[in-house]
Amino acid sequence: MKRKKLKKRNILILILIIFLIGFIIMNNKPSTKDKRLKELNNIDQKIDYFNYKNINRYIKYKKKHKNLSNKQVIIDVNIGIDKKYYTNTKKSKYLNTNKVLVNKYNYLGKNYIPNNLENINIKYARKGMKLVKEARIAFEKMAKDAKKDGYNIIAMSSYRSYKYQVDLYNKYKKKDGKEAADTYSARPGYSEHQTGLATDIYNGKTDFNNFEKTKEFKWMQKNAHKYGFILRFPKDKVKQTGYQYESWHYRYVGKKASKYIKKHKLCFEEYYIKKIEEY
Ligand code: DAL
Ligand code: ZN
Repeated sequence: MKRKKLKKRNILILILIIFLIGFIIMNNKPSTKDKRLKELNNIDQKIDYFNYKNINRYIKYKKKHKNLSNKQVIIDVNIGIDKKYYTNTKKSKYLNTNKVLVNKYNYLGKNYIPNNLENINIKYARKGMKLVKEARIAFEKMAKDAKKDGYNIIAMSSYRSYKYQVDLYNKYKKKDGKEAADTYSARPGYSEHQTGLATDIYNGKTDFNNFEKTKEFKWMQKNAHKYGFILRFPKDKVKQTGYQYESWHYRYVGKKASKYIKKHKLCFEEYYIKKIEEY
């Protein structure tokens, strides 16, 4: 009887030990999250634009683009460029502010018309060109200062309505085909021109396609950021912006943002991920 009791106690102790060992092992096992982070080369989770929701996409993208830094991987995936243009779209946030992002993943839609659209002084624009008030004032100041130095900065296509972009995009599509048109023209509802914060410029004589060759372009390179404007589609950011290089297209973002973007050689998508989007 005594032996039986002893046996029962030993079995109970054994079960307890097994249970304890199991508990210790389970607790020391790296979590799925830790394992994933390791796969990402121990990426610094403290990067404030790291979004845990995107972890599988970061890993997949990093495998495809081995020479990119982890930071760039996070930025690119947060922008959305691991997915095909126009396949993963959402409505733009921060409407009617300088922070709004409009591109092949973020749209304004049919009905968006910005507040405070105003005509640009025809000294610095083709007739009927409009920007929203703050951008219009900054643009006129920039063009006026340029003029004092002997440079002609002229707005030739500024605010464009949804309907205008429909006609423009269809014209390009007919001329060059959809695939080519998509490299240089936004689809209706997806154009930054519809925000009233963007303008194409030329110098009054040279075709805008050759703006890069003009002295006005050089002036803009040196000075646009001082007035809150950025070159929106730079040569080295085609992947991030989704558009070919456009030396003539400028976007008003406000001085603080334009100076930061210039200093750190970013495009607006990268700035948006780093400084505007919340995670
Ligand atoms: N050309 C620019 C991308 C636009 O169509 O908005
Ligand atoms: Zn443009």
